[in-house]
Amino acid sequence: MSIFLFLLLFLIVPVSPFSSPDRYTKSHVSSHHQEYLELAHPLPSDFLIPSCTHQILRHSFANTINSPPFSTSYSPPSECLPPWSYVSLELRAECKGEQYDRIAGLWLGGAELLRTSTAEPTKCGIFWKVRKDITRYSSLLSRSDLNVTMMLENIVNNVYTGVYHVAVTFLYYKENADEDQSLVYHQNSGFLREKQQMGGVCSWQGLAGLYETPADFIIPISDRGNRGSWFRIESESDVYSQGIRIPRNTYRAVLELYVSFHGNDEFWYSNPPNSYIETNNLTTGRGNGPYREVFVIVDGKFAGSEAPFPVMFTGGVNPLFWEPVVGIGAFNLPSYDFDLTPFLGEVLDGKVHNFGFGVSGGISYWLVNANLHLWVDHKSSKRLEAGSVVYKSPRLKIKRREDFKLLDGSFKVQAERKAQFGGWVKSSAGNLTTVFSQDYRLKSSVNFVRNGAYKLVKQKVKAWREVVVRNDGGIAVNRLSVRRIYPLSVITSTQPGPQRKKDTYLLVTNVSRALSERYSHGGFSSLVYNSQDSRGWMEVRDHSVLSGSALTRQRFSYRDLFKCYSRSVEAADG
Ligand SMILES: *[C@@H]1O[C@H](CO)[C@@H](O)[C@H](O)[C@H]1NC(C)=O
Ligand SMILES: *[C@@H]1O[C@H](CO)[C@@H](O)[C@H](O)[C@H]1NC(C)=O
Ligand SMILES: *[C@@H]1O[C@H](CO)[C@@H](O)[C@H](O)[C@H]1NC(C)=O
Ligand SMILES: *[C@@H]1O[C@H](CO)[C@@H](O)[C@H](O)[C@H]1NC(C)=O
Repeated sequence: MSIFLFLLLFLIVPVSPFSSPDRYTKSHVSSHHQEYLELAHPLPSDFLIPSCTHQILRHSFANTINSPPFSTSYSPPSECLPPWSYVSLELRAECKGEQYDRIAGLWLGGAELLRTSTAEPTKCGIFWKVRKDITRYSSLLSRSDLNVTMMLENIVNNVYTGVYHVAVTFLYYKENADEDQSLVYHQNSGFLREKQQMGGVCSWQGLAGLYETPADFIIPISDRGNRGSWFRIESESDVYSQGIRIPRNTYRAVLELYVSFHGNDEFWYSNPPNSYIETNNLTTGRGNGPYREVFVIVDGKFAGSEAPFPVMFTGGVNPLFWEPVVGIGAFNLPSYDFDLTPFLGEVLDGKVHNFGFGVSGGISYWLVNANLHLWVDHKSSKRLEAGSVVYKSPRLKIKRREDFKLLDGSFKVQAERKAQFGGWVKSSAGNLTTVFSQDYRLKSSVNFVRNGAYKLVKQKVKAWREVVVRNDGGIAVNRLSVRRIYPLSVITSTQPGPQRKKDTYLLVTNVSRALSERYSHGGFSSLVYNSQDSRGWMEVRDHSVLSGSALTRQRFSYRDLFKCYSRSVEAADG
């Protein structure tokens, strides 16, 4: 084919490259019957024998769109009542046919336990399981007046045939279950009990140590409506908050935020600004540029924020990348921890206070809700004295640059958000001052060349947060921190389809990203490094993959003073 003919064909190819990456289904190409997985560190409890296991729910999610979540009553098993040393959750799922990836949430009494997404099925069927440590929810798990609910909005018709069959089991471990756990020798500190140092470590550490002693109360900040307990955020002005009366003897408060992004913001890190869309008369709704921030407010005051990890679901960019190893976080989405103890001085008056959140720059739609974990002073039922010492919340620093001519050009964003909040609470443990600090930086660029047919997206987030607790003598009695770095690069090149079929096109894509997370708590520190590189191509008609080939390489490693764990996989064409 002459260059001229190639160019000519290229220019008339009827595709809309600016809107990719997008979501696709793949059942025309993939026919393996197999198990899917997300690489993760084993849970500490995986090495122990549970005292009892209890199936919590079993349900088939067929055409569940616009229906209320599945709900069933919960009570802890009578043969192993609390206290427990660990509780873990195991979700098993299977599906067969043609189907998109779907987002799902699992709640107990309206408090979220797991945010997960489904793998896209094949003609011969696929199955998988997800395990998560849920010890931090012990105060809810020990109640028998709550319902478990699960939302998984699915569409089943004559095109989309995949029904998701799900079973959730809780595994309870009693105090003595870990008695024979081996002691580990360490050069500097001698023998240490391994468990004490492990907390609830798994693939997302966050500020895990904050929940080492599970909270006395967990108050959901979630929707009571019929569409699941998450709030659906459709725009920047959708700020949801809930009035909560905080027990007057609360000495510690931590907000745990669950978030996922969908629709026009599923790939928010690759969205061009609205000026590009308008100038080119594009019809896509995927605009607002490549920057988003999820923020928390207490009585209208900023109390922390996060640039969320860019989780990719199994239909994203190229679904052939995610079989059978799914993207980082796809089965177990990260949650984000905000220590709100510094705000207790303003909320222990027995009145109702507002806790809420929103998404800066967000467009339809984000699913967000939170759990407020509260610890109360068991030695005093009186109102605790508390006050604020620091409230530093400088404005978001953000620089945006755009430079484009019709469909080609580049867009850059650099943002930084620092904040620090400190407050003291006088309880039976003394007068303790907690300082919560955060700092994140985001750097992002989106480039279009070849008339928009070649798109290169790069993003790098560096996020740090720290909690330091000091006694009246000014001595640090607790210190926790987590540093996360997550680089991402996505290349999408749109080309005419083979044999120049008018209704198909080729997408050649590369995705590479990583999560590096360093957690430290007192003298203990641990490091997770998780990287994934995928490349391949696919031939697409509408949103269906007709043919293609893909290779994904992943390396997961975990290391602390006592142990290391690593796993590498390479998956080619399923
Ligand atoms: C649990 O679900 C049942 C049936 O759906 C409902 O009648 C009941 O009110 C729910 N209980 C709670 C505590 O939400
Ligand atoms: C967009 O539409 C306007 C009005 O119809 C037209 O003047 C302009 O040339 C169009 N721009 C492009 C890039 O097609
Ligand atoms: C507790 O400590 C803080 C910080 O040192 C101090 O400002 C506050 O007055 C103390 N509160 C009480 C009741 O002693
Ligand atoms: C994807 O990466 C491979 C290997 O690094 C490279 O050869 C290829 O050109 C890349 N594809 C695109 C579309 O840039």
